Amino acid sequence: MNAQKLDRIRPRIEALEAMPTIQVIVQPLVAMLQLPADQVDLEKVVELVSYDGTIAAHCLRMANSPLFGRGNTETVRSAIMALGLKRIEAILMGCCLNGIVPPDKWAFDAVTFWRHSLGCALVSRQMAKLIGYPDPEKAYLAGLLHDLGMLVNTLACTEDFRKCIQAAREGHVALHRSEEAHLGFTHCQSGKLLAEHWHFSGDVMDVIEFHHDEVVPPAGGPLVALVHLSDLLCRLRDLGYGYYEAMGVDLGGDAAWATLVEHYPALANMDLARLTMDIDGSMEEIVALVDVVFKP
Ligand SMILES: [Fe+2]
Ligand SMILES: [Fe+2]
Repeated sequence: MNAQKLDRIRPRIEALEAMPTIQVIVQPLVAMLQLPADQVDLEKVVELVSYDGTIAAHCLRMANSPLFGRGNTETVRSAIMALGLKRIEAILMGCCLNGIVPPDKWAFDAVTFWRHSLGCALVSRQMAKLIGYPDPEKAYLAGLLHDLGMLVNTLACTEDFRKCIQAAREGHVALHRSEEAHLGFTHCQSGKLLAEHWHFSGDVMDVIEFHHDEVVPPAGGPLVALVHLSDLLCRLRDLGYGYYEAMGVDLGGDAAWATLVEHYPALANMDLARLTMDIDGSMEEIVALVDVVFKP
């Protein structure tokens, strides 16, 4: 990593604070995300969701999606009740982040980015439930935010990031490898800067920083491993970054799988092919959901 190059984007991160959405929604939301669901004030969440009409519309569309097993939710309050406070907080965070990137700034297609992020959120939650991870909603949030650094790169070094994506696309290489070569830092490192600045919780910050590491660092634990595997599954199943990546993946041989088995020994007997098939069964719905929520 080139620390000087990374330092150059710090002022851009600080400049984000001037945006009303950040001050009014993101900051209170980050504080709320640290609280257990029973300590979150419903009225405050209703107020945050209702602040911006586009965000409220996204939440309603999501609440009405069959993937969440709901329908006919017409008000923000009933959407919150239907989806649950923790889920709404995560959705709200995604919608706010979508709103901070001006449409002409996207270094790659916004729908592609959200398909990947939301896909990863849903797969992480599904995998969390399948393996018995105790907080599936935390897995959802971590999956949704794991590539936060791509938004940072988009905002802080738009042109260089565009070149970097172009090079990755032409060379069929993973985006973080192209970032290392062309930017001198990756979205994992730039994402961590923003996550620190916004005081994200330590476990989500670890996911943002370490989700592409070959070996999951002990501090990261099972959540990093879970999101790492979900990210791989999404990239293998056409929910990646919108281009073909030449990668040979053996999920069972991946160090992240070994980390999960260490924490959940029962997994050693689980059929990995079955697990991926279960997840594959949801892919179509995931794509449809993202299109409903994020397509203009
Ligand atoms: Fe990533
Ligand atoms: Fe990713």
